[in-house]
Amino acid sequence: MTPTVCILAAGKGKRMVSNLPKVLHRVAGTPLVGHVLDTAASLSSVAPIVIYGHGGDQLRAAFKNRAVVWVEQREQLGTGHAVTQALPHLPTDSLVLLLYGDVPLLSPATLVRLLGAAEPSGYSLLTTTLADPAGYGRIVRNHSGEIARIVEHKDATPEELEIREVNTGIMAVQGRYLHQWLPSLGNHNAQGEYYLTDCVALAVAEGIRVAGVLTDDVLEVTGVNDRAQLAEIERAYQRRQAEALMAQGVTLYDPARIDIRGQLDCGQDVIIDINAVFEGHVRLGDRVTIGPNCVIAESTLGSGVEVLANSVIDSAIIGPGARIGPFARVRPETELGANVHIGNFVEIKKSRIAEGSKVNHLAYIGDSEIGRNVNVGAGTITCNYDGAFKHKTIIEDDVFIGSDTQLVAPVTVGRGATIGAGTTVTENVEAERLVISRVRQKTIAGWQRPRKPRK
Ligand code: UD1
Ligand code: CA
Repeated sequence: MTPTVCILAAGKGKRMVSNLPKVLHRVAGTPLVGHVLDTAASLSSVAPIVIYGHGGDQLRAAFKNRAVVWVEQREQLGTGHAVTQALPHLPTDSLVLLLYGDVPLLSPATLVRLLGAAEPSGYSLLTTTLADPAGYGRIVRNHSGEIARIVEHKDATPEELEIREVNTGIMAVQGRYLHQWLPSLGNHNAQGEYYLTDCVALAVAEGIRVAGVLTDDVLEVTGVNDRAQLAEIERAYQRRQAEALMAQGVTLYDPARIDIRGQLDCGQDVIIDINAVFEGHVRLGDRVTIGPNCVIAESTLGSGVEVLANSVIDSAIIGPGARIGPFARVRPETELGANVHIGNFVEIKKSRIAEGSKVNHLAYIGDSEIGRNVNVGAGTITCNYDGAFKHKTIIEDDVFIGSDTQLVAPVTVGRGATIGAGTTVTENVEAERLVISRVRQKTIAGWQRPRKPRK
């Protein structure tokens, strides 16, 4: 039976020193609670419940496309109080999986283990062992090694403080138990809070076994409380992705200098130089090489594509064997054919450039369709915008565009035509013609440049 996931996310996050609710801070480009929602979606088909305290509008807006049951906890009176707010939405006849919104890297595999362990008795708890357990709730076990209760750090005796097995806060509990126990929780403890963790002792008192599931991967149960921890989690996460890529046969010149904010799929023998940033879903074909300092978002690069240093590619499809950069910017809705060359200081926007064409230096190509084997000279500009509307430039196969040409759209240059350097093309050009619009060169003899008077 599919569990109901309930995510605790009402904590103030004071140590973030931020206007943004803590769980909207990002790891690998995705809000903390977005990672948790992704994990929840992989385990359960039921809409997850998120208990929030602050920034409800911001949270709802950030996840407006997802089915989430939002529950407000107006005052943060403890984890037990938080889950109590969600009781009306919790089923009585299936497991509830309690997660934290600020613990982003929990693996679905661990949670599957946790859910499995909860099956027999209806209660399981995820624990870990820490060298320094300060601040955490300690797992107190009885003589036969069974979990007896959890004692919070602030309530613990010196003896209990020695325990290194801690509560991660993640648990799976039968819904009906929560309905039964939560209303009876008290707050007579060092912090005056309603502790969710007190449910453990209540279960044991009723003879319900609480199954402990131990994870030795501390990273996956690490929460974010301040920006230093946010950065730590980010680096650890990126390191793992880098290791996974290398294991799949990708060369990374420095695994510490690649950031994947989304999903990166690589073919064989891909080589990625330093400081690469990948956003959204990026697919790199076999033998793609990415130069240093490149940003590539939501794009597909065919086999053998070479991206040279300092290039930015966003929402584009790049054909096999193409060469981009250095210092190129390829903007959304661009499609480049096989072996196209886009050189330095060239911007391409919403354009299709067919096989074998070259735009090698200092050009702007926008809203254009360029055929095969076209050569676009240095400094060429498509004047696509009249201040109100965008217009199209069409350049057919085998055209040669001389340097410093302006193409005032809408305009079509026919197959095989040649445009002389410095031309402003304002009318359609017929195939195979030479077009040139250039003021004739004058020579003035005896010309004296103005001079400053001598002192
Ligand atoms: C809690 C556990 C502790 C465990 C630790 C792991 C309790 C009483 N203690 O500690 O055993 O070792 O987590 O990190 O459960 N939250 C709310 N509303 C509240 C209070 C908290 O939504 O009123 C949320 C927070 O946003 C956070 C999570 O619950 O996501 C844990 O809260 P936090 O204050 O960090 O943990 P502790 O209560 O100190
Ligand atoms: Ca915490």
